[in-house]
Amino acid sequence: MSIIPLAWKDKPSLIERLLPAQKISAEAQKERKAGAGQTLTALGSYWKGRKPLILAKACVLGALLPATDNPEADLEVFELLMAIDDEAFVRRGFRKNPIKIYKTLKAHSRLNNQTASRLFAVRWRESRKFGSKNDQILPFDPSAIDEIIVDPNKTLIWNPAIDEQTRLKWETEFVRCHDYPTRVSEAKRPEECDDATLYGPIWDRVNQHLGTNAHSFPELVEQLGTLRFGHRPRVGDTFCGSGQIPFEAARLGCDVYASDLNPIACMLTWGALNIVGADEATRREIEAAQKAVAEAVDREITALGIEHDEHGNRAKAYLYCLETRCPHTGWMVPMAPSWVISKTRNVVAKLIPNYDQKRFEIEIVSGVSEAEMTAAAKGTVQKGDLVYVLDGEEYRTPIKTIRGDYRLPDGTTGNKLRRWEKHDFMPRPDDIFQERLYCIQWITAGTLGKSRQETFFASVTPADLERERKVEQIVRENLAAWQEAGLVPDMPIEPGEKTDELIRTRGWTYWHHLFNPRQLLMLSKFHKHMINNGSLNVMFSKLIDWNSRLCRWNSGEGNDKIENLFYNQAYNCFFNFGSRGYSYVINHWSFDEIKQFEVNNDWKVFACNATSSLSLPLDIGITDPPYADAVHYHEITEFFIAWLRKNPPKEFADWVWDSRRALAIQGKGEKFRQDMIAAYSALANHMPDNGLQIVMFTHQDAEVWSDMASIMWGAGLQVTAAWYIATETTSELKKGGYVQGTVLLVARKRLQDTSAYRDELVEEVRQEVAHQIETMVGLNQSTQGKGRTENLFEDADLQMAGYAAALRVLTGYRRIDGQDMVAAALRPRPKGERDIVREIIDYAVQVANEHLVPEGIAQGVWEGCCGAERFYLKMMELEAVGLKKLDNYQNFAKAFRVGDYGELMASQQPNNARLKNALDFKKSSFEGEFGRSALRAVLFALYELQKEADSDEVMEHLRSLVPNYHMRRDDLVAFCQYIARKREHRYPEESSAANILFALIRNERLG
Ligand SMILES: C[S@@+](CC[C@H](N)C(=O)[O-])C[C@H]1O[C@@H](n2cnc3c(N)ncnc32)[C@H](O)[C@@H]1O
Repeated sequence: MSIIPLAWKDKPSLIERLLPAQKISAEAQKERKAGAGQTLTALGSYWKGRKPLILAKACVLGALLPATDNPEADLEVFELLMAIDDEAFVRRGFRKNPIKIYKTLKAHSRLNNQTASRLFAVRWRESRKFGSKNDQILPFDPSAIDEIIVDPNKTLIWNPAIDEQTRLKWETEFVRCHDYPTRVSEAKRPEECDDATLYGPIWDRVNQHLGTNAHSFPELVEQLGTLRFGHRPRVGDTFCGSGQIPFEAARLGCDVYASDLNPIACMLTWGALNIVGADEATRREIEAAQKAVAEAVDREITALGIEHDEHGNRAKAYLYCLETRCPHTGWMVPMAPSWVISKTRNVVAKLIPNYDQKRFEIEIVSGVSEAEMTAAAKGTVQKGDLVYVLDGEEYRTPIKTIRGDYRLPDGTTGNKLRRWEKHDFMPRPDDIFQERLYCIQWITAGTLGKSRQETFFASVTPADLERERKVEQIVRENLAAWQEAGLVPDMPIEPGEKTDELIRTRGWTYWHHLFNPRQLLMLSKFHKHMINNGSLNVMFSKLIDWNSRLCRWNSGEGNDKIENLFYNQAYNCFFNFGSRGYSYVINHWSFDEIKQFEVNNDWKVFACNATSSLSLPLDIGITDPPYADAVHYHEITEFFIAWLRKNPPKEFADWVWDSRRALAIQGKGEKFRQDMIAAYSALANHMPDNGLQIVMFTHQDAEVWSDMASIMWGAGLQVTAAWYIATETTSELKKGGYVQGTVLLVARKRLQDTSAYRDELVEEVRQEVAHQIETMVGLNQSTQGKGRTENLFEDADLQMAGYAAALRVLTGYRRIDGQDMVAAALRPRPKGERDIVREIIDYAVQVANEHLVPEGIAQGVWEGCCGAERFYLKMMELEAVGLKKLDNYQNFAKAFRVGDYGELMASQQPNNARLKNALDFKKSSFEGEFGRSALRAVLFALYELQKEADSDEVMEHLRSLVPNYHMRRDDLVAFCQYIARKREHRYPEESSAANILFALIRNERLG
């Protein structure tokens, strides 16, 4: 087929019909768990809330691919392109040895003996050495498998006589024996594989289905863009953040427009496209420039003589702590929550009293006993108190007393810490908190410059202190000039949710206060040499993340390292910290960990407010706006802006080097809604009538959805689909503030001005939800019929279909009950207004929920259950198939309107959540909707039975706990059967008790 421009102009996109959201969720989580191994994180792990590249890829392809009248083939091709089909896993490294493959296929009854003896062979080796002339390949007799496993001279191998195709077929069969999360966890991510190998085999099938003629993503994307829009597609993201979405779109072959209000976001996006996306020659150029800067700084630091000792050793890390005067004794006490320096080498810092000077000498001792390690781990800062022992007596003073905390008239807390001034860079002698160097980690002279360096920890000597004074003197003499020239920050710290910590706990008021003299000196040198180079500016921001007074010394087993400031999203001020010497600094100045994926298309990065109009036309918008986002991007990025703002290189010179806090879209409420309408109107106005918007946001509550409906109306958009992608992982949640899942809302321009009345809408929504869910359940069944083991869509997807259907129907009309919804969206929402939108969304979700009846519960029983019972039954079903994500519980609690579902939970750990079972409930929780329900009564009976109560007594309690007992007997029996089945493996005793209760109810004599 030839590629006829605009031939697919009006075809719906695949993402408007189907998306294998479960698989994409698993892939997205795998990518997030990769931490520093993620492609773009190497440019700045300080940027939080990155959207996975795989999610962006799904959006780009989902928007470009057509939804045809053959959904199964559409899905097949989409999965091939995403490398999430069964066969792709063989190429993604989900390969195992032939023994494992043979055993697994046998266990799943997928292989008979005859085929097995054809597929496999036995290699017999005379000795363990390879290539002896007596080695033999023997036929495989499946009945001898146990003997082969134990015989060290025999190995099961693929029969050399079978061809690649046959082997691939059986390896794929092996993949099919595993559920999707297992496959993903044991395979590489698609982006870690070589494109030609991973995607090479798919193009014939892709082209056959689509009528294209492509052999790479850029070719395919260009052809799809031409068919749909008449040219290579243009993708825009006006909230681009770290550039995950624009980078992936560009890598696939789209032209890209990216913008963000925040210059650091723009810089990271620019870096993604320009550094990771660089061609070979550009990459070499950047590397050469970087090397030159590193060498220049090394020369200057070495010439100053501030890092080498008299034996030629060079400092790797300097450890500093705060020190303060104890109000009880007048002694100066060093402060640290632990005096362990290295768990790996049993190194500690010992405090030795110096009675003359009323202070402690700090001695570094290596190879101490475990008892000394335990003693050192106690530290002198414990639970907010300064604690130390002098002459056998323990002194304890709250740090807030030392700081002199007091209540201000406005109810907030002030303190007596001096506020540092612009020319300060270290504490003044009479400040409450002093700073003290207490240990140096040295690289031995003999191993300097080698790949394996030897290091040791040592106490601070007078010569070290002299070098410290020298550094301080240099900074004292130069600070004002450096600030003037923009080499170090001179920007005040603006108070804020996160930045207040700096001011309150340290008295710091300018951004350079976060850096000690050594750090200021070193960073000013790097800055001076790289100032005109955009790529090196990106790398410089990493240096400052890893080099400040807020960098924790990690003494944990196998660590001995200095962490970065933004390991989480806060300004944590530590009592002790690590500062890097040059040779440790350059670890984060290297390109080694930065991958390369050449991007050859047009791309542009702008710093602008998403609410103002764009300057370029777009076909597809894929955006991740700051919806209820917990990340304070503006406050976090001010740390970097302070360094870079005065001398931006020419590439960044047009950007406003300010976080523009006032313009940042945040949170909820009226202002937020209006800003979002403006932002999406700008996007809609720049896209053609057949353009598409994909909006990512956090699924929180029904209010989010009615806000979204209003934003879509106001922006002239109509929702066409919604998908839920679970992106939560335990480790990320621990870091705080992470969103737990992402909704993808798909929208198009609303091209007609139609009206509807409420009654019609309700009916239309009902039909739409039912139709959508039936289609999805149908696809589940038909794909399962074709050898797929897992559901294509799970309950969360079906629920989402409810929301999507409601929004699709609602936003398709301009007028509802005579009210102009666009005009209503644009004006402030009157408080307490009866919200028809909200009601219809609630109704749609209810309709969707009715379709989520757990397997094994009759419709009639389900209808008689209250929301909390439905929640409990539904979650029992998910637990029975091994699901443990808190995310699911939250979603269903919302869906079934269970306000406090925590009451029903035994654990609310993000990835290990579970319901209370009968024994967990014990004899409590008989209040509230669930407490008074028949299901709670059944669980109580199961508790009593497990505690071996008399069965007559159990039945008597049951009868008294369930109002209208006789009318509810069938329901109780149904609950017993259900619990017996769902808890058979997880809680076998509860399951047996349920069988007993079932029999007791069935056999009781009535009347
Ligand atoms: C959720 S983040 C985007 C994250 C991005 N998708 C990623 O993967 O890194 C939202 C972004 O919106 C930006 N933002 C906030 N208000 C804005 C505005 N008025 N105009 C443009 N961007 C804004 C923030 O700076 C932030 O980078």
